[in-house]
Amino acid sequence: MYPKSSLPVLWPTVALASVAIAVSAFAQDVGKYSGPGSCAASNCHGSVTPRTTTRIRQNEYSIWAAQDKHGRAYTVLSNPVSLRMGKILRLSTAPNQADKCRACHALNVPENLRAQTFQGDEGVSCENCHGPAVGWLGPHTTKDWTREQSIKLGQYDTRDLLSRSERCMSCHVGTPEKRVDHEMIAAGHPDLTFELDTFSAVMPRHWKFPSEGDPWAGVQEWGIGQAVQLRESLSRLSRSAASKSWPEFAELECYSCHHNLTSPQDSWRQARGYAGRNPGAPAWDASRYVVFRHLVEQISPEDSRQLDAQLEKVSTLVGSGSDREQIESAAKQASGMADRIAQGLRRQPYGRDLSARVMQAIAADGAPIAEQGELSAAQAAMALDSISLAYQKNEKSGNEQELRAAINRLFDQVQNPSAYNAPMFAAQMQKVKKLLPGVQQAAASTH
Ligand code: HEC
Ligand code: HEC
Ligand code: HEC
Ligand code: HEC
Repeated sequence: MYPKSSLPVLWPTVALASVAIAVSAFAQDVGKYSGPGSCAASNCHGSVTPRTTTRIRQNEYSIWAAQDKHGRAYTVLSNPVSLRMGKILRLSTAPNQADKCRACHALNVPENLRAQTFQGDEGVSCENCHGPAVGWLGPHTTKDWTREQSIKLGQYDTRDLLSRSERCMSCHVGTPEKRVDHEMIAAGHPDLTFELDTFSAVMPRHWKFPSEGDPWAGVQEWGIGQAVQLRESLSRLSRSAASKSWPEFAELECYSCHHNLTSPQDSWRQARGYAGRNPGAPAWDASRYVVFRHLVEQISPEDSRQLDAQLEKVSTLVGSGSDREQIESAAKQASGMADRIAQGLRRQPYGRDLSARVMQAIAADGAPIAEQGELSAAQAAMALDSISLAYQKNEKSGNEQELRAAINRLFDQVQNPSAYNAPMFAAQMQKVKKLLPGVQQAAASTH
């Protein structure tokens, strides 16, 4: 996209000064964190309006500080909900001092990795995603400096979608070191749901999108984000099954427990039955898989068969209250499979036909997805929203507004999760399907 020779020389005086700092400060500072204040100057990333003459817009800090909820992630640890959570969970300190909360709500790094400018009360800030900056802060503004050079000095590769997703999931799904479990949720923490493309748009993005000029970038974000999300949630399931707090309710479909009851005649759950589990047993939360599987199926029917078989096993083991060790090992194995698929998706080209086929397949599977529960329905709505938005950027279909309105009605169906009704969601999926772009026969064989 940008030949290196065309890179603008940014602020030569700053650059020269920083070379000197860079040379003297080198080795011992690589890996240290400076805090977001170092990025805030208006001639760095704190410009109020986007610059058009430079490759970087330079208003990243302003967007983060004014619009991005990450900028308030530390402050929310002092709000009434957090304070009550602290009491319920019997934390020994205030939530904003507790590692259990700071792990995801702040730049929570050890003392010896903090530069003098570091404060630690700025929420989820630049270096949570971009990596420790002290090593590259100086030189990264110099002429001809490349991203690869910064990466060698500690910058995190957020451009690679797999690494980017891993970064997001480290807090939005959890890791061995930090997690949101049902105890925290019951104490007031929101449930963690995620979808890379949708959540990036909501942040909002402080970078050019689509990056690299790829018009199908939204579909790629959705696909890779789903694969990494599946992999990470299966690793989490495997860890949960190994821990003594199993069964961990946060691994299960929330609304298989938390739904309104109706008379037997009105119960869609009884009408659906309890395939693969004991009647009334809470179901594994399959939302990170039942929508994504349609992309895998379009790309590789063989992978799709294997993934289906492995996840059916996971689902049945969890739903029949099986032995923890079996669940742990089945989830670990499936997570490995999801990883292989994720790696393959890096090289997957997206385009009109694949996007149309995936949307059609998701919508055609409306009833089974709907019957998995509210969380799966929400993922289907986000997927159709993301993919169709990318599609509409590239192709005119003439019914854009009608399709948007129909997809918005899918979102309406998941607004009150305890009252979620699968047949109604499935019926709306039928309506969406009729408005989706058709799959062209001729193109279908060429991918
Ligand atoms: C594994 C990472 C993780 C941990 C640990 C964690 N949180 Fe969160 N928290 C999140 C994420 C991600 C969100 C945003 C969820 C969303 O909206 O999708 C969030 C949202 C919240 C919100 C809602 C914020 C709002 O804008 O309304 C509160 C309150 C909160 N967390 C408090 C806490 C407290 C208190 C603790 C410690 C007991 C804690 N969190 C631990 C990741 C975490
Ligand atoms: C929640 C994660 C997150 C936070 C917090 C965050 N960024 Fe980013 N940033 C990204 C992602 C993802 C991209 C897009 C991929 C890329 O270009 O690296 C990006 C892109 C950028 C870019 C464009 C890079 C390019 O070459 O196009 C700049 C500059 C930037 N961020 C600066 C900042 C600054 C300054 C802050 C703090 C004020 C910040 N970011 C906070 C995730 C984050
Ligand atoms: C260090 C942990 C961390 C990382 C990494 C992280 N987030 Fe977050 N994210 C949070 C927390 C904590 C919140 C809740 C903030 C609040 O509501 O005050 C949040 C909130 C959000 C929200 C607002 C959700 C809502 O309900 O409005 C979006 C959107 C979001 N994150 C997207 C992303 C994306 C995209 C990435 C990766 C590029 C990412 N996050 C990486 C911790 C993180
Ligand atoms: C196996 C059944 C089960 C599953 C699955 C489950 N929960 Fe719970 N949940 C409970 C029980 C039991 C309580 C305690 C209710 C009480 O004390 O009244 C509870 C309490 C809660 C509470 C606090 C009560 C309230 O009304 O505010 C929230 C919020 C909550 N769960 C959300 C969730 C979410 C979100 C999920 C999915 C990530 C989930 N639960 C999964 C059984 C479950």
